[in-house]
Amino acid sequence: MTRVLSGIQPSGDLHLGNYLGAIRNWAKLQHTTDAFHPVVDLHAVTVPQKPGEIGEATLRMSQMLMAAGLDPQVCTIFVQSHVHEHSECAWLLECTVSFGELSRMTQFKDKSGRQEFVSAGLFTYPALQAADILLYDADEVPVGDDQRQHIELTRDIAERFNSRYGQTFKLPEAVVPAAGARVMDLQHPTNKMSKSLDSPRGTIDLLDDPAAVTRKIKSAVTDSDGEVRYDVAAKPGVSNLLSILAAAGDRAPAELADDYSMYGPLKADTAEAVIELLRPVQARFRELQADPAETSRLLAVGASKAQAVASATLQRARANLGLLTA
Ligand code: TYM
Repeated sequence: MTRVLSGIQPSGDLHLGNYLGAIRNWAKLQHTTDAFHPVVDLHAVTVPQKPGEIGEATLRMSQMLMAAGLDPQVCTIFVQSHVHEHSECAWLLECTVSFGELSRMTQFKDKSGRQEFVSAGLFTYPALQAADILLYDADEVPVGDDQRQHIELTRDIAERFNSRYGQTFKLPEAVVPAAGARVMDLQHPTNKMSKSLDSPRGTIDLLDDPAAVTRKIKSAVTDSDGEVRYDVAAKPGVSNLLSILAAAGDRAPAELADDYSMYGPLKADTAEAVIELLRPVQARFRELQADPAETSRLLAVGASKAQAVASATLQRARANLGLLTA
């Protein structure tokens, strides 16, 4: 059976970009693959956290994944830091990736530019991500477009380790959805949609109520030529709305454009489609929130399933490298 792995950071709540670019795809794939989904808390601590908040955020993100359709009876949902093999394997991979390769990562360049304090962990982050993937012998990594570069690097790291120490890791493939792979910020449509803390009016959170969704989409930046056309370079704002509407339904953005001659109706239909998409997720999230102990129990089951796989792979890596056994 195809093995799938993909993770998400517990920094802020899920937003529409995460959902359309990744999570919705995970929910579909879980039924036909053997899927692992860590909430990657160790990735989130590459930037400073307020004491005590990360645990709460990790629980909340786990509940959001479940609310968004990941079924812990069907796939394996777990917390990255509960499986210590991730950090241990990350070290071996940090020693397999070069300074130059890490320096070329666009996510590092973007993020480090916005931080006052740039941690060493922020720089070596892709080696930890490679460990997340390689520990599970993942065949496929379903992600949004922004993660392609990290998956490419993961393949390079795996190949280098294998050629130095013998066949150890499987080379994974990125799987990026046709629609929704790059949801843009509603206020700055040439930037990708990211956490609402960074851009409150440009980001739709999965928990936004219908009034907030309508307000944000109605005030989305478009352009002044008044023509509804799918052209990402010339018309990023309008194209983003068409992409969102397309991803929420089953039609291609360029084809949808033919149905509209004005921005108002396009915005109204996009808002309506997003509200309908979020409604069941929000209802399920409220239910899950009422029983945090049950979520913790499910996460413990997930961690022990994950650890059984991860420890065998780490053992293989240690043996191939030739570390002295204890
Ligand atoms: P993260 O937490 O930023 O995002 C989680 C997933 O959401 C996708 N995504 C988007 N897709 C479309 N449009 C957007 N605006 C948008 N914003 C985010 C991301 O592509 C991602 O699939 N480094 C990863 C987390 C990670 C990981 C892993 C992923 C750690 N280990 C192993 C895959 C496999 C990250 O920061 O994603």
